[in-house]
This record gives sequence, C-alpha cells and structure tokens, in this order.
Amino acid sequence: MQKDFKNKVVFSAAQPSGVLHLGNYLGAIKQWVELQNKHKCVFSIVDYHAMTVYQEPKKLREKILETAMIYLAAGINPEKSTIFIQSDVSEHTELAWILNTIAKIPELELMTQFKDKAKRFRSKVNVGLFNYPVLMAADILLYKTDFVPVGEDQKQHVELARTLARRFNNLYGDIFVVPQAIIRKEGARIMGLDDPLKKMSKSAKSPANYIALTDEPNLIKEKIKRAVTDSGKEVIYNKEKKPGISNLLEIYSLASGKTIKQLEKEYEGKNYGEFKKDVGEAVVGFLEPFQKDLKKLKENPDKVRKILQSGAEKAKLIAAKTMQEVKKAVGINY
Ligand code: AMP
Ligand code: TRP
Repeated sequence: MQKDFKNKVVFSAAQPSGVLHLGNYLGAIKQWVELQNKHKCVFSIVDYHAMTVYQEPKKLREKILETAMIYLAAGINPEKSTIFIQSDVSEHTELAWILNTIAKIPELELMTQFKDKAKRFRSKVNVGLFNYPVLMAADILLYKTDFVPVGEDQKQHVELARTLARRFNNLYGDIFVVPQAIIRKEGARIMGLDDPLKKMSKSAKSPANYIALTDEPNLIKEKIKRAVTDSGKEVIYNKEKKPGISNLLEIYSLASGKTIKQLEKEYEGKNYGEFKKDVGEAVVGFLEPFQKDLKKLKENPDKVRKILQSGAEKAKLIAAKTMQEVKKAVGINY
C-alpha cells in the first residue's frame, strides 16, 4: 500500500532512565521536532525498556513524567504528534510476545548494546535485557511505522525490526510495514566529554561525561571547559586525530546553526581555551528557551499528565487495530 508523504508514520522513543542529555537532544529529539510538520508522528516514553536495568520505583515514576516534559519543552507539539507512555498501551508487550516467537536467539546475541551491557552485568544479566530489541520492534511495528529517527547506536535494533517485519509478513501475510531508520550525519553520535572515544551516555558513571538537559548554565560552561581535548592547538575537524575537538565542533555547529567549515575558519589562529568558552556559551544559549519551558511545565504536572492520557488513547486506537490484525493473521482470535 502506497502512502502519500503526509501520511507516512514516524515513531521514536527514549527511555526514562538516567538523565536525558545533549546527545539525546541533538541525535534524536531535535529531528523529531522537525519531522512532526511533515508526517504523522508518534513519540513514546519507553518505561518497560528502562526496567531492563533496575530502576528505583519512586525515581522511575518521576523520570517518566520528566521525560514527557522534556519532549514537550523541546518542541514536540501534542496537537501535531502523539506522545504517550509505553506501558499505557498494553499492545506493546502483547505484540512483543508474538515477535518473540519469530526472533532467533543468535540474532539477539549479536546486538551490540546487549553485548556491552552483558559485559557490565555478567552473569546477572536479565532476560529482559536480552529481549529488549524485540520489544523495540513491537513499538515500531504496531504503528506501521515508515521512519524511525534515532541516533547511530539504535541502527542495529531498527535493522532487527525490519527483519522481524519481513519474517512475520512471509509467515502470516502482509501486515507490517518494513520501517526505515533515519540517522542524521551530524549529531548521530555525540561523544562523552570526558572520553571522546565513547558515546555520551545516560548511564555514564561520571556526570562530567554529559551535558544533562537540566544542567545549570554555569555547570554547562564548566563541563565544556573541562572536556578532554586533543594534543596540538588547532581547532579543526578530524575525528581520528582530534576526537575531542571534533566532538565539540559538532556540538557547536548543531547548537549555533553554523557549519563546521565556518567554525574552523572562525577559530583559525585561536586557541582551545577561547574555542571552548564559546562552545559553552553556544550550548547555554541553545538550551535556554528549552530550559525555560521545562521549568514552566514542572510547575504544571497535571497538564502533562492529561497530555499523556490523551496521547495513550490516540496510540491505543492504532495499536489495538494492528493487534487485531496480527491475532487474526496468526490464528488466535475467534
Ligand atoms: P536512550 O538514551 O538510549 O533512550 O536514547 C534515546 C535516543 O537518543 C535514541 O535515538 C538514541 O540513539 C539517541 N542517543 C543516545 N545517546 C546518543 C549520543 N551520544 N549521540 C547521539 N544520539 C544519542
Ligand atoms: N532502544 C531505544 C534507545 O535506547 C529506545 C526505544 C525503544 C526506541 N523503543 C523504540 C527508539 C522504538 C525508537 C523506536 O534509545
């Protein structure tokens, strides 16, 4: 079935765990905001995914609401897009079960994120963590999603969703759309400030790794000032030789709207100190309107709860319909 452009479906999500950081914003959320003017967008707060690593219940409850506020403050407009909490739409776990029956163990064993986390948790790794990409595939396929805007680290998971969609369709008939990842060139992999060889991460041990979206301006400037840079003193983009400076250039470019080439020119003959000071200011300026809106939303959690409730109702309508088709296709409804 050919859909016209306006009717293409976009789905994406973030986990309400740890702190949402500049990498999440630049790699994912910034794209979401732009896409909502072109397509039908559905954005979820995936609490069941967050639970694959133990979350303190009280904290999780707060984080779920805060993540929703972050989406809204970043410019996701509930009149244009559907925003909801994953666990409010039970079809996600229902479909995940069915997809589990066609996903293969070796396929899941290949997932880089699982391998990384399994290394950290060793024998204590839980089955949910292993299964996580299947639930993610269910999230995506339930909405017959065409496009999945994510950061680079999720590419492999979207690939699995594509495989499962095709496999299901071959076995049971054409139910699912085979989704496509949308990964931007710039910002798809923002690196840690304390270690520019690893991605900026929610679960990093040290807060020096990331700029949390809720960090105060002075802290942001301080963190960027202390960011690990490279030997030499020229501000040029070269990911291999200058991973630290390149990461800052990428952040600066996305925060200011200037191209990396322009910035390289601007900083010819200037030193790292000057450059970092300006990157700090650009990031603070970029986050200022967002942080203002976030503060306002925090004063009005009930408004956000209402948005989530009506988002869940809208999502449920689509999810339930797909789930009915799926049940019929596999032969379990009567
Ligand atoms: P998560 O923090 O794992 O819930 O990720 C939410 C979204 O942010 C996903 O689309 C990720 O790919 C994206 N993301 C996470 N970390 C980074 C990063 N360091 N750089 C760019 N995108 C990221
Ligand atoms: N696994 C994703 C992450 O950690 C979050 C996620 C869950 C997701 N379900 C999704 C992203 C569906 C895109 C589409 O970033």
